[in-house]
Amino acid sequence: MKVNPEHSPFPPLVDAFGRHHSYLRLSVTDRCNFRCFYCMPRETVAMKHRDRLLRYEEMLRIASIMARTGVDRIRLTGGEPTNRVGLDTFIERLAAIPGIRDLSMTTNGSRLASMASVLARAGLKRVNVSLDTLDPERFRKISRSGRLEPVLEGIRAARQAGLLPIKINAVVLGGLNEDEILPLVDYFSRQADSVILRFIEYMPFQERRFKTVSASSIRRVIASVHRLVPDLAVPGGGPARYWRLGDSGLRIGFIAAITGHFCSTCNRLRLEADGHLRNCLAREQSLDLRPMLRGGSDDAQIIRQLRRYVATKGSGHTCRQDGGQPFEGVMARVGG
Ligand code: 5AD
Ligand code: SF4
Repeated sequence: MKVNPEHSPFPPLVDAFGRHHSYLRLSVTDRCNFRCFYCMPRETVAMKHRDRLLRYEEMLRIASIMARTGVDRIRLTGGEPTNRVGLDTFIERLAAIPGIRDLSMTTNGSRLASMASVLARAGLKRVNVSLDTLDPERFRKISRSGRLEPVLEGIRAARQAGLLPIKINAVVLGGLNEDEILPLVDYFSRQADSVILRFIEYMPFQERRFKTVSASSIRRVIASVHRLVPDLAVPGGGPARYWRLGDSGLRIGFIAAITGHFCSTCNRLRLEADGHLRNCLAREQSLDLRPMLRGGSDDAQIIRQLRRYVATKGSGHTCRQDGGQPFEGVMARVGG
């Protein structure tokens, strides 16, 4: 791993399996203006009291400490990150941290029409937009109230603001939106210059509510009508495997979180909005950074705790398409 010594006086965060952690997913809020039913089960979500949330200053401190260990990529997540006020100034300050070379955001896209250009000017480089259907009525059902049109407008605004490439994240839920695969491919084929369409396998949190449609079967659906050729990895592509449509040139990624099991190369840490750091999306065991931040710990003390906690990271999840252990906790809180 390349580490710029000027910015990295601390050794990298390495776990017991030799995985270096260079990517931080930062949830700035657990709130969302949508309530997608596969992400935010109605009965399990309790919104947190405001001062339990980390302040931006506190997040900036953690981000700069991590940057000094070699973390060079940050993704803002939620809930819905645009729900938190002052996001543009926060982004400006994050982007100024030495060593951070990639700053992106995962969003439902509903506010991008008005915010994309401001966020891009602040230093945001790219966005991932979650979109599982192009049918307004189905969109309203999945999101339990959201409207499709502002999201499509938001994607256009992101393109104009240069937040490129725009990755569209579509979760395929067995029996629910498999028939959206081809319409999504056709729709985004017309924006192949700026968009990468990614299909994500559904991960069951706490219990399996839907069937996980495997990445390979999604690919077969597309390949039944389009020519698909293997493509190179794309910037910040992580564990996705990429293909390209022969006709439109649209790049399509597949994230086989369940059938592909990419844990052995996992480089991610996730900071929840209330200060709990998670070393694995599938496991709730976490390190609460808030007492350290508010109790006067110095950077060296925090780093020691981080190192100790990263060392306890498990080898990965054991969830399978038909069984194994489901993921723990609530997706909406961890931010994916
Ligand atoms: N399985 C797979 N992906 C999910 N997402 C939310 N919940 C799940 C789940 N259970 C997706 C969202 C978003 C990203 C952060 O994760 O659609 O694009
Ligand atoms: Fe990493 Fe855990 Fe996800 Fe596996 S399940 S990729 S170890 S976060």
